[in-house]
Amino acid sequence: MTADTLAAPRAPHRAPRKGVNLEKWGWIYMRVSGVLLVVLILTHLMVNLVLPENGVHALNFAFVTGKFSTPFWQWWDVLMLWLALIHGGNGMRTIINDYVHNQKVRTTLVAVVWIVVAFMVLGGTWVVFSFDPCFDGLGNPFQHEAGSMLAEMCAAQ
Ligand code: HEM
Repeated sequence: MTADTLAAPRAPHRAPRKGVNLEKWGWIYMRVSGVLLVVLILTHLMVNLVLPENGVHALNFAFVTGKFSTPFWQWWDVLMLWLALIHGGNGMRTIINDYVHNQKVRTTLVAVVWIVVAFMVLGGTWVVFSFDPCFDGLGNPFQHEAGSMLAEMCAAQ
C-alpha cells in the first residue's frame, strides 16, 4: 500500500497479538456495564426519589440508614459504585488516549484516573459496609435530634 491509498476499513492494522486483548474486553465492559447501569440507576432513582410517599422529601439520614441496614441495598449501591466508577474511569482513559498526544502526560493522566477510581471504589465500599448511624467516627455516639426514632434506637444500643 502506498501512502496515498487508504486501507480497507476492516483490514487489520497489525498482526494479531497473542494473549488477552484488554482493549476488546474494555469495549465489551463499556456495553455490558452500560446496560446494567441503566437498570441499577433507574431503579435507584425510582426507589429513592419517586416511590416514597413524600417523594424526594423522604430522603434524609434515617432513610439512608434504613437502606444501608439491608444487605440487598448495600450490594445494590456497591454494584452501582463499582460498575459506574470503572465505566467512568475506562471512558476517561479512552478520552485521554484520544486527545493527549504526549506519551508521558498521557500515561500520567491515565494513572491518576485509575488511582482516583481505586480510592473511591475502596472508600465507598468501606463506607457502605461499615456504616453505623450511631457512630460519629470519633468514638462518640452520633447526636441525633432528641426524640427522633434514630436517637431512641441509638440510646437503646
Ligand atoms: C446510565 C447508563 C450508561 C450507559 C448506557 C452508558 C453507555 C456507554 C457506552 C456504550 C460507552 C462507550 C461509547 C464508545 O465507545 O463510543 C460509554 C462511554 C463513556 N461513559 Fe457511559 N454509560 C452509562 C453511564 C455512565 C456513567 C454513570 C458515567 C460516569 C461515571 C459514564 C461515563 C462515560 C465516559 C467518560 C465514557 C467515554 C466517552 C467517550 O468515549 O467519548 N457513563 N458509555
